Amino acid sequence: PVIRREDYTPFPWILPEVRLRFDLGLEATRVVSTLTVARNAKADPSSTIRLNGDGLQLVSVSIDGEPVNTWSMDGDDLILPLSGDAHEVEIATEIDPGANSQLMGLYASNGMLCTQCEAEGFRRITFFPDRPDVLSTYSVRMEGEKAQFPILLCNGNKVEEGELEDGRHFAEWHDPWPKPSYLFALVAGDLVANSSTFTTMSGRDVELNVWVRDGDLPRTDHAMESLKKSMQWDEETFDREYDLDLYNIVAVSDFNMGAMENKGLNVFNTKYVLADPDTATDADFDAIEGVIAHEYFHNWSGNRVTCRDWFQLSLKEGFTVLRDQLFSQDMQGEAVKRIEDVRILRSAQFPEDSGPLAHPIRPDSYREISNFYTATVYNKGAEVIRMMRSMAGPEAFRAGTDLYFDRHDGEAATCEDFVRAIEDGAGLDLEQFRLWYSQAGTPKVEVAMRYEGETATLSLKQTVPPTPGQPAKHPMPIPLRIALFDRESGEHGGEQLIVLDTAEKELAFEGFAQAPVLSINRGFTAPVAIERTAPREDLVFLAARDDDSFARYEAMQELVVGHLVAALGGGLSDEEREVGQAAIAEAFGAILTDDTLDDSMRGELMMLPSQTYLMEQMLVADPGRIHAEREALKAWLGQHFHSTLETLHDRVSAVPYSLDGPARGARKVKTQALVYLAAGDPESAAERAWEQFDGADNMTDRQGALMVLAGLEGALRTNALLDFYNRYKGNDLVIDKWFTLQAWSTHPQAIEHVKALAKHPDFTLRNPNRVRSLYMAFAGNPHAFHQADGEGYRMLADLILSLDPINPQTAARFVPALGRWRRIEPHRAALMRAELERIAAAENLSRDTYEQVTRSLG
Ligand code: ARG
Ligand code: ZN
Repeated sequence: PVIRREDYTPFPWILPEVRLRFDLGLEATRVVSTLTVARNAKADPSSTIRLNGDGLQLVSVSIDGEPVNTWSMDGDDLILPLSGDAHEVEIATEIDPGANSQLMGLYASNGMLCTQCEAEGFRRITFFPDRPDVLSTYSVRMEGEKAQFPILLCNGNKVEEGELEDGRHFAEWHDPWPKPSYLFALVAGDLVANSSTFTTMSGRDVELNVWVRDGDLPRTDHAMESLKKSMQWDEETFDREYDLDLYNIVAVSDFNMGAMENKGLNVFNTKYVLADPDTATDADFDAIEGVIAHEYFHNWSGNRVTCRDWFQLSLKEGFTVLRDQLFSQDMQGEAVKRIEDVRILRSAQFPEDSGPLAHPIRPDSYREISNFYTATVYNKGAEVIRMMRSMAGPEAFRAGTDLYFDRHDGEAATCEDFVRAIEDGAGLDLEQFRLWYSQAGTPKVEVAMRYEGETATLSLKQTVPPTPGQPAKHPMPIPLRIALFDRESGEHGGEQLIVLDTAEKELAFEGFAQAPVLSINRGFTAPVAIERTAPREDLVFLAARDDDSFARYEAMQELVVGHLVAALGGGLSDEEREVGQAAIAEAFGAILTDDTLDDSMRGELMMLPSQTYLMEQMLVADPGRIHAEREALKAWLGQHFHSTLETLHDRVSAVPYSLDGPARGARKVKTQALVYLAAGDPESAAERAWEQFDGADNMTDRQGALMVLAGLEGALRTNALLDFYNRYKGNDLVIDKWFTLQAWSTHPQAIEHVKALAKHPDFTLRNPNRVRSLYMAFAGNPHAFHQADGEGYRMLADLILSLDPINPQTAARFVPALGRWRRIEPHRAALMRAELERIAAAENLSRDTYEQVTRSLG
């Protein structure tokens, strides 16, 4: 069935209090739930209560203390007749966590028990109105064998614990904050903690714990530090204080997503907790800091104010992503973080917006909500709120968020509530801006500049492309930060924010003795695609000296995109190719040698646009040719700048390891330089890469060098891969990297390597990290995945079909890679479509995969 946003109705009952008793066992867990139920005065009355279930074994039901058998089932849901205004309902169920391979609900991971309830996992634990607008306080008693489950954790505060007979023990927990069922969590297992405390702004001491398996304790300090920084930052930046005496984080190795913000008991994928310099890259350190912050920030944006229904998911996710981005900007530097966030948006979200799975940040319908935990809801959602912040300015925006938290604390709110609070608190008129919540598709803004008699006229034209179910669109307000540079002095007379809120607009700027150079969408103020016919020398100018780092990066990207698209479009004459390359070389040379640039920015500017982004630039893409052109440009730059790159690589290689900014920047440049050197002259670069690999005292350098070596032929490649494997055998997160590097490699035989790796004894379909390490990397490796004979498509479809019965949520995440078929040249498109049809024809397909496949076929 399709669920629609417009069909929302409040639940007829309220459940102020929930008591749960767990008798924990890996193969059999008994759950007894006691619910206080009363009529919801704000809803239409009902004579029954519907309690959602999924795969539960019902043991008994009683109402007001009397066992009853008047219940009935509607599919998986339990329907109970309730005649009065208030009742106590008690339900006993039994579940088998060991058999739960979906990793939703209560499941076993490495001998411990843990839960994942968002979005609809609680119904796999007990019968319950499993919807986010039903808020209850929870009291939980956990019992189990002490040897197997020495640590028993749940939401809130521990109120009681003790020993029982036969080597068993118990713990009782109480969470005073009313919450929806998706925020419930429980963990039982043999865990050790890195413990610390944080004193909040009002002077309360909070106990902090990061729980891991015994051997992992030395790799938890960064997570703990990140948590403290997050708590402090949210006090300083949003005036948000933590509200319990205890904050627990547990790391588990089997997890469908990154992490989960359960009240007082976050459950994390180990990938976003464990780090030390020998096993984690700089990017891993940053990702941990960002995800710890994200889950912490949910305590206010998500938990204290939650969502009315799952169509409002972006209310908590978009806002929380924006909050974690602003936090990371403050921790690591605004310029580079912004570029990284835009790169993620363009490579993950733009393709969603331009494909068959396009949906607004607040979707209108779904079959399976798990399919809507997307880059659109999360990352575009963050961009939409960031635009409001840009238009209001940070202070007025804070007034808006203060009002939002104030008004809706303790409630299940909507995106509309958020927009209204920002309007009222920040003093903005967001009437037309609301279209960003309802219209899908990345707006295109065409930009042109005329210059006449000292006046520069900027003309702007927006179009929002049609998307499935939305053939015609209205113009949206698009805030664009701009500056006009004097091309002589290299200066501009100040930035301004303009808002394009009509289909077309012209703006005149007076007093220019010569045509200025336009810098537009500075800081990427709007998540749009700018199409401008800027003269090549203007892009070279901006790439070399724009004072907005994002705009500088953007100019470099545009220069390269323009050249490659022209090359692919109809072939360039030799002369045109030379002119294009010369312009790129001029900008690239400035980037390599500009000593006012810090290295982390240099590293960003050196990166070529990804193949995915290039494919997005074309109506119909030929992945094979794009790959060849992009590699050829890389090789040309590698040769052209051979000695400059070697000098640069030598310089940054001399910087000793530390986690501070300059040293991290040096490591980024180090691997970038190596990438170009290897493209230009594989043989001499292989020696250099081996030296970097062999001499590395940290994972960033070692992984960077191995990535380069994995793309080359010869003995150094084989030796490095073997050496790396043996060194880290048994460390799952590092072995994941080993799978990824090979699956993602530019090596011509990458597809054969993936086939072999799928048979490696360390490969398993049971662990989502491992599956993703091989197959997400493969699906993101265009030259391998898009092999012309369709072998890559077959492999991915086979994976989806074998993973679907085990873990549908993770299986469905691989479908979008095949769903891009409409944008690929016809021969490959037919092969991709055929694989989607083969999946669609399979019996017993999960709702998750079924929905993604049918939407992809269109
Ligand atoms: N709320 C979590 C986060 O953003 C994600 C949980 C998603 N879980 C799921 N099964 N879809 O941090
Ligand atoms: Zn989140």
